Amino acid sequence: MTAKTAVQQGSDLLAGAGIPEPRLTAEVLLLHALHKERIYLFSHPEHELSTIEWIHYGRYLHERMQGKPTQYITRIQEFYGRPFHVSPSVLIPRPETEHTAEQALRVAPQTRTLLDIGTGSGVLAITLALELRARAVATDLSLDALQVARRNAVELQARVDFVQCDLASGIQARFDLVVSNPPYIPVAEIPGLQREVRDFEPHLALVGGVEGTELYHRIVPQAERLLKPGGWLIFEIGYLGETGVRQAFAQGPWEDVTLVHDLAGLPRVLRGRYQP
Ligand SMILES: C[S@@+](CC[C@H](N)C(=O)[O-])C[C@H]1O[C@@H](n2cnc3c(N)ncnc32)[C@H](O)[C@@H]1O
Repeated sequence: MTAKTAVQQGSDLLAGAGIPEPRLTAEVLLLHALHKERIYLFSHPEHELSTIEWIHYGRYLHERMQGKPTQYITRIQEFYGRPFHVSPSVLIPRPETEHTAEQALRVAPQTRTLLDIGTGSGVLAITLALELRARAVATDLSLDALQVARRNAVELQARVDFVQCDLASGIQARFDLVVSNPPYIPVAEIPGLQREVRDFEPHLALVGGVEGTELYHRIVPQAERLLKPGGWLIFEIGYLGETGVRQAFAQGPWEDVTLVHDLAGLPRVLRGRYQP
């Protein structure tokens, strides 16, 4: 079977199973089976699949039809123009999270040291360490997630130290910048999530307590201990999180508390400046 036919058949199978973007997904899965870059499909549509390539492609199609996200099959997701390894131990980095990185670059360009709380695959800590030429510390409760993040930091040559702890409880230093994209989905919303998220992404990365803002209320007082005066705390928030997270900031010496919307017009980033 040729690559061209394999894409068509895979696309038909995925479409029949109700998978969105079936053709693109079939192409990505076939390229993963072939260990090739995207251009290869256009330059070699007549490539004859070997038995082993066909077996791998078939397995990937089957996994995707069962609901497994494409990124957990290919084990790669791009973030801010760089490739990051992912595994089922980490949240698949979302493009919306790039807004948090952008805000940090915009308001805190002089940052020398930063802390990322709940780092997952390490996208925020690594991107900011590289873009700002800064030194980062990143925490997570999940040791498996930290292993993925550490591998990403090594391969992308970012200066990041990783600490397994509850939020920032194990951290003593003072930083110019603290960023966090903590879990923010209210527990009651979990059963109604897309199956790709609900059944495959780690619930530790999703569930933010009853209201969805529980972790923010714990992180803000910790950030007061960890930020230098004038330093920024920058959060990604859920679309319903603004009021609750603003309340967390209202308890302490925070100024310039500002909401930023994403490209879809949804509240996405809330930042505040520590002014004791
Ligand atoms: C929404 S994910 C964000 C991951 C990554 N920062 C990103 O933006 O893609 C939240 C992360 O927080 C971690 N986490 C959840 N509760 C935690 C806690 N109490 N202490 C430290 N990390 C926690 C999860 O394991 C997960 O990696």
